[in-house]
Amino acid sequence: MSNVVVAITGASGAIYAVRLIEVLMAAGRTVHLTISAAATQVLKQELGLNIDLENFDPSQLLPDPASLPDDSTISKMKNTTSEDFALSSVLGEADLNQGQLIYHHYHDFMSGIASGSFLTDGMVICPCSMGTLGSIASGACNNLIHRAADVHLKERRKLIIVARETPLGLIPLENMVRLTQAGATIMPASPGFYHNPMTIHDLVDFISGRICDHLEIKHDIHQRWGS
Ligand SMILES: Cc1cc2nc3c(=O)[nH]c(=O)nc-3n(C[C@H](O)[C@H](O)[C@H](O)COP(=O)(O)O)c2cc1C
Repeated sequence: MSNVVVAITGASGAIYAVRLIEVLMAAGRTVHLTISAAATQVLKQELGLNIDLENFDPSQLLPDPASLPDDSTISKMKNTTSEDFALSSVLGEADLNQGQLIYHHYHDFMSGIASGSFLTDGMVICPCSMGTLGSIASGACNNLIHRAADVHLKERRKLIIVARETPLGLIPLENMVRLTQAGATIMPASPGFYHNPMTIHDLVDFISGRICDHLEIKHDIHQRWGS
């Protein structure tokens, strides 16, 4: 299974991360997850999740299997017009079982993802706070998230930064330019509305889908313009 690193930091939009993890697992990826201390406050505020980073059970971020649609409902709901796509927006337990979720404490520099010799297909920081953005732009590797991001840049691998703040001040804007020049992709958590979203889920899937596009993961979780 190929490895993808996902870091959740203390910006608004924790729901994007939760959905991204589901989609990556359904795409058969091994997700290496790390979470900043500030992200636990946002996860609590926005999703009602109580996360203890010292004793974290990654299944806390996954849907309760009992709440997932059964196989026959899934096959009815799946979009059958684009069979060559690996993923549709409706995921069941069997889909999630395609992948693996491995947790790394954000201060654990012994973790594989702290080293360039640990191979990955990329890293996504979702959502990314302006604090984490600034730390990476300055090269300060003070925690595992900053270090893993720095590794992805130095190894010339994909680093997708799902930045979230509004409005943007000069310092984050300059940091975004710097990180783009260093090879990162800045992907603001700013969904489009041209696919006529009906629910928050549709908006979330727009961003999750665009992240998958940049990770070169085939999917059909949102409608594409012109399709
Ligand atoms: C509920 C909540 C929402 C926040 N939303 C944002 C945000 O959207 N963008 C941002 O840059 N910081 C946001 N912050 C502030 C960051 O969490 C704070 O700057 C923190 O130091 C970031 O640390 P981290 O980058 O290590 O996660 C938020 C904080 C809380 C508690």
